Amino acid sequence: MEFPSHGANYKSLYERFRIPMPEEVYDLSENVNAFGFPPRIKEAWPDLLHHIAAYPHPEAEPFRTLLAAKLNVAKEQVLIGNGAAELLTFFAGRFSNRQAIIVHPTFSEYRSTLEAQGAKMIELMAEEIATYKLPLEQIKEHMKDAACLYLCNPNNPTGSLIPKETIEELLIHGEKVECELLVDEAFMDWTDESESVIPLVEQYPRLTVMRSMTKMYGIAGIRLGYLVGRKELVEELQRRLPHWHVNGLAIKIGQLCLEDETFRNESIERHQKIKRNLEHYLLERNCKMTDSVTNFLCFQLQEQEKTRDFYFYCLKKGVVLRHTENFRGMDGRWLRIGMKGEDAMKKFQQVMDEWYGK
Ligand SMILES: Cc1ncc(COP(=O)(O)O)c(C=O)c1O
Repeated sequence: MEFPSHGANYKSLYERFRIPMPEEVYDLSENVNAFGFPPRIKEAWPDLLHHIAAYPHPEAEPFRTLLAAKLNVAKEQVLIGNGAAELLTFFAGRFSNRQAIIVHPTFSEYRSTLEAQGAKMIELMAEEIATYKLPLEQIKEHMKDAACLYLCNPNNPTGSLIPKETIEELLIHGEKVECELLVDEAFMDWTDESESVIPLVEQYPRLTVMRSMTKMYGIAGIRLGYLVGRKELVEELQRRLPHWHVNGLAIKIGQLCLEDETFRNESIERHQKIKRNLEHYLLERNCKMTDSVTNFLCFQLQEQEKTRDFYFYCLKKGVVLRHTENFRGMDGRWLRIGMKGEDAMKKFQQVMDEWYGK
């Protein structure tokens, strides 16, 4: 049975598994903001239309400059991308025939982009899944031979945070053994920004931080992400990227998102409340959970061997969860769930109650 490698696009999931799709489907398999995008985008929509006909700024200005000021870095250290996914591809392009380290279970695009660029993979396992505890000594040993260590913080799919001190320890080691670090903070804006290592970019030239705007700001279809790193790296990648790779609408919409701190703060608050309720519910059903700080978490049924049956039961009932069949170390024994609106969370609980015959 072949499982898809990402969440979202649930229609194709029903087709693939030949399960009749219920009239009402709740997609909890992806991690985009449950409440959509900032309302100011809709308000500005008529004014945004003229960006359709015009060529965009090749370096995504003025968004890049505004973002750099907000992050307190030089604009030459910031590269805007058509989603973080695009930047991951081009970043990986620097490692063909070189070694790169990833620590499972983690975001599948690291491996696929690195492999597509001919990098040689060093694949390690977290010491514990629920907390995503890194095998520090093993990582350090392999860093001696590797060109880059990839870290996802907070980690997808567990949602766990890697302590900043741990990352700094690895950065110091990386400078010593000449191994770069890519820290993907796609979900950092769902938590305390004080854990971000963007302020360390100046101090550690081998550090690159990746960010995505698509999750928090609900603009996965528009595509917008960025990286912060040393100027030479930004220049090198900019040269390789296609001209006009970030569209004009995304540039303008990114600017509107940046200005909307209220939207971000309210989103965090609302999602945290939903998460607390879900954690309480899952605990009552003796489920094990990852210690997520973001807008999704993974859980394990007490009867782990029934996870697949439960996953398909949910699908049939119109609740789409994210399987973990292709997350090494989780091997299908966990399920990931994104925080969504009240109706969706209620539906999930109703289906789980039915499953347990309540
Ligand atoms: C950890 C992580 N990094 C990067 C991305 C890519 O984000 P974007 O939508 O900006 O391409 C994702 C998307 O799911 C992700 O989960």
